[in-house]
Amino acid sequence: MLILGIESSCDDTSVALVEAGESGFIVLSEKTASQIEVHKKYGGVVPEIAGRKHAENILPVLEEVMKNQKQPDIIAVTSGPGLITGLLVGIEAAKSLSYLWNIPMVGVNHISGHIHSVLLNPDKVEANSTAPTNRGSSPSTDGVRGSSLQFPALCLIVSGGHTELILMKSHTEFELIGRTRDDAAGETFDKIGKLVGFDYPGGAKISQTAVGGNIKAIDLPRPMIKEGYEFSFAGLKTAVLYWLRDNAEKTETSYNFKNINLSDFCASFEQTIIDVLVTKTLRAVDQYKPQTVILSGGVSANNKLRETLEEGITKIFPNTKLLLPQRKYSMDNGAMIAVAGYFKAVQKDFTDWSKIDADPNWKVYK
Ligand code: KG4
Ligand code: ZN
Repeated sequence: MLILGIESSCDDTSVALVEAGESGFIVLSEKTASQIEVHKKYGGVVPEIAGRKHAENILPVLEEVMKNQKQPDIIAVTSGPGLITGLLVGIEAAKSLSYLWNIPMVGVNHISGHIHSVLLNPDKVEANSTAPTNRGSSPSTDGVRGSSLQFPALCLIVSGGHTELILMKSHTEFELIGRTRDDAAGETFDKIGKLVGFDYPGGAKISQTAVGGNIKAIDLPRPMIKEGYEFSFAGLKTAVLYWLRDNAEKTETSYNFKNINLSDFCASFEQTIIDVLVTKTLRAVDQYKPQTVILSGGVSANNKLRETLEEGITKIFPNTKLLLPQRKYSMDNGAMIAVAGYFKAVQKDFTDWSKIDADPNWKVYK
């Protein structure tokens, strides 16, 4: 089955043509137009501008992906959650193609897409595909180690807009275990990055700067680490602000540190978030006893997070398999939407092109 995946829920216009076959998922062609350079100036994604940029980018991206390719069998498009301005552009494009080619379409939940990104095995990505830009750090623990996903699977989804622990019972059934009460993990990375003068989104820059830094230089609070599966990161941002006020000199765009350096600061902050994410994930593994653990979403590009979770699982739950996305598929991309769409298509869970709608608040779980 050939699936065309379309993603436009945030600041990437991304399209991929994916073949689902006996050997798994093969990305035949893909293209991502990133809007980061535009939104950087504003320190975050501006929805109106995002919508306009998606509208400008969608046709050239689609054209490039479909050049010399066969017509797909189905179209999978992100229909939520995300920014309404972006979702509508992807959906309108998908509707037109579904009508024109007379092929069915499926509306895909963005979070289901992130979860299924771990099935994009790097060995099976065609060499000539134009991959989305990797905003993560250097590839040391890259890729999926064997792509079989066994249920139940426990998923930690960490991105700019989401921090969720989800129990997955099948490719299309999800149950919420816990989520953030306020800021998402990626959002927290980006806010702290902004405070110290990094361009938006600052997550990858923080993790690069943290390399070699002292993780114990600052003792920051680890919110709600002792119990449960809920997260809360807003208080951590406030604690960092107070620490900066008392221990660093404010400059026009950043801070001059008094007793430690920027690398120590980034390492301590990064470690705090990772401790919370990994502790809660391992607690959930202990309680729910999944066959597989999945880490995905933009923050899953973080080396330290990958290594720490891998270490914890290998040591405490050696029989549980950990699946990580190839780094370029940690970020928003059309290929992951095609994979998630495939599993809806095999269940014939199609949506008529005249009925599909964007749902900016669509929850993947019941
Ligand atoms: O999944 P994604 O591309 O978009 C959303 O759906 O939000 O995630 C983007 C987020 C941003 O907050 C970015 O700073 C974060 O992922 N991110 C990272 C790293 N690479 C990207 N955070 C920490 N460490 C990284 N290496
Ligand atoms: Zn995302």
